[in-house]
Amino acid sequence: MEAPNRQMTATWDRATNQLHLHNGRISYLARVLEDGSLGHLYFGPALAPGRGYGHLGPPEFHGFSDRLTEFIALECPTGGGGDFRIPALTVRHADGSAALHLAYAGHRIIAGKPAIPGLPSTYVESPGEAETAEVLLVDAAGAVEVRLLYTIFADAPVIARSVRVRNAGQRQVTVRCAMSASLDLPDARWDLLHLSGTWARERHVVRQALRPGRAAVSSLRGASSHEHNPFVVLARPHATEDQGEAYGFSLVYSGNFRAEAEVDAFGTTRLRLGIEPEGFSWTLDPGEEFSTPEAILAYSGAGLGGLSDAYHRLYRERLARGAWRDRPRPILLNSWEGAYFDVSENRVLAMAAAARELGIELFVLDDGWFGERDDATSSLGDWTVNRRKLPDGLDGLARRVEALGMRFGLWIEPEMVSARSRLFVEHPDWAIGIPGRPRTESRSQLVLDMSRAEIVDHLFGVIGDVLRSAPISYVKWDFNRNITEPFSLALPAERQGEFLHRYVLGVYDLYDRLTREFTDVLFESCAGGGGRFDPGMLAFSPQGWTSDEMDPVERLRIQWGTSLCYPLSSMGAHVAAVPNHQVGRIAPLATRAAVAFFGVLGYELDPTKLDPDERSAIAAQVAFYARHRELFQRGRFVRLRSPFEGDGNEVAWMAVADDRRRAVVGWYRILNHPQAGPGRIPLRGLDPGARYRVTAWPPGDDSMASRNALERGGDDLMSAGILVVASRPETAARGDFQARLFVLEAVDAD
Ligand code: GLA
Repeated sequence: MEAPNRQMTATWDRATNQLHLHNGRISYLARVLEDGSLGHLYFGPALAPGRGYGHLGPPEFHGFSDRLTEFIALECPTGGGGDFRIPALTVRHADGSAALHLAYAGHRIIAGKPAIPGLPSTYVESPGEAETAEVLLVDAAGAVEVRLLYTIFADAPVIARSVRVRNAGQRQVTVRCAMSASLDLPDARWDLLHLSGTWARERHVVRQALRPGRAAVSSLRGASSHEHNPFVVLARPHATEDQGEAYGFSLVYSGNFRAEAEVDAFGTTRLRLGIEPEGFSWTLDPGEEFSTPEAILAYSGAGLGGLSDAYHRLYRERLARGAWRDRPRPILLNSWEGAYFDVSENRVLAMAAAARELGIELFVLDDGWFGERDDATSSLGDWTVNRRKLPDGLDGLARRVEALGMRFGLWIEPEMVSARSRLFVEHPDWAIGIPGRPRTESRSQLVLDMSRAEIVDHLFGVIGDVLRSAPISYVKWDFNRNITEPFSLALPAERQGEFLHRYVLGVYDLYDRLTREFTDVLFESCAGGGGRFDPGMLAFSPQGWTSDEMDPVERLRIQWGTSLCYPLSSMGAHVAAVPNHQVGRIAPLATRAAVAFFGVLGYELDPTKLDPDERSAIAAQVAFYARHRELFQRGRFVRLRSPFEGDGNEVAWMAVADDRRRAVVGWYRILNHPQAGPGRIPLRGLDPGARYRVTAWPPGDDSMASRNALERGGDDLMSAGILVVASRPETAARGDFQARLFVLEAVDAD
């Protein structure tokens, strides 16, 4: 993050009771209205500090009275009064009633940013990086206190929001819905963008115009899910990658969530984001408090790219934590698709030795190394090495891998238990299920009740023992099924609605304890591919397994969609064998690599089965990636041509160094067509005054290298564009699934 910026302020004007969060890029404004509620005034480009903006709210507001007040913009809308739009907070009082009338009761401004108990959140490294405003609202009946927290960072167009609800009364209160943020916008000319799909095609971009009524994405799966992601955008209909207004809404959470937009009868829009209310409730005894996860709201006046820039930087630098946050990530070989469950010391060492010859830096032993695990039907929970497969244990194996000059990594799935396992025999009551009801089957495995402290303690012990037993530098933490029949034997009936959130808190607790103890281990999150690829996981695992699908054509869409919110450094991207194991497609090796380069590169195949041409090609890929690793993992990612627009046949993106002196452009054409003709793709983010040397990769297979190899100006490359297709048919690239990379290096003017 940049040095503290003097323009950053969170100010409360006592005369007008107006809160203004300002940092020179954005302003966020709220004001106490005449009925005491906290009205929303504005979120957008920075407005001059020190002025009153009460005119952006209602002239006067003494509470909802008739239809003419129904569109009032509020910071924390509640149910049961005269606001009939989607609420941010609903409770059930001890008498069974549900109305809440929240009125301002005080505020404070704090330097820096407080942590949220039990939950991951963005952070600061010095108090000067951010200011936080905390506004206290109290219900008319006095028993419910709500604190709204707003953090403004010195140099990011984002506001971090969260909510705390406290029972200040004498009897129980049950929270039924506690959104992390609600934002009222004065019109409805918005498209809702969300990232949706399923296993092996996660996070495709879906864009739909808002209409009167509600539009929502959510998860009821106990995890953020493959199907939807806790990230949505409201973009102007004409907004593109680099133009137009857009608001981003991202939830730092890994469990059930809902993002929902409502357009009311007056043409205003409300967007709310938080824990999914369906099935949720949280009972507060007198004095107890509930904290919501954090929502990060971003504003961009420069299209979706501006939003992505803001999220990428914040999440890479002030959400991800630990020693690996800033370190270059190793190029890995993962054993899964190369060996599946058929692992043995000899096989693993042969794979590792072959991988090392290719320049690969980390060998990851995936599923199959523990218990009696020969297929997916047994042994989860028994985290002891299988000596039949690995006679010298993990230690012997890891040391031999290290002797080859590589690091050693391991797959685990701590939250699960197989019915065929010692753990299940010993503790059948640790698996989630409802006594007297059948359990829904999934991948022959059950889920442990992570809401119970003794189970988290047990896992901390056994996983800790595994990590201490051998030189393990990397952990892939998987989660391969959804949660069904949610229920905890440890919770009373009236608290079962807390279960799924308590589950997530248990997972965070385990992650927190393990990452704090094993500070040098690189953690990668995974959930059957990208089923829990969210900011909550990113706080502990600086990288995540993006998808089980590695086919480059499919990956173009997955990585493009993922990149809307998540930085390159968070996206695990592997080159797999062909035919692809999911779709059977046979794409050229160079194309598989040219897509996987944009992220954290790995290979997931059996390197002992490669022919000499493949071996030399992969060795060259690894060397090329290593040379440009900083760009591929930490460059500014600029999306140029979308797989979701037009026929989606041509895709392009680029990664640019912060100082703009180096960049790599990726260009992909899925199906070849006769007479494809010349193409030019205008680049973005370069220095218009610089001259760049352009080299093509892979080298020497068409005339593009020489045609671009002229030193070209940044202005030329951005306005006229880079040449991507040879214009003479005899030199045009042939075949389907083509890819070209272009490396741009600024040359000093002389
Ligand atoms: C999940 C992961 C895969 C692999 C398998 C192992 O599906 O996404 O990468 O680790 O589990 O069972």
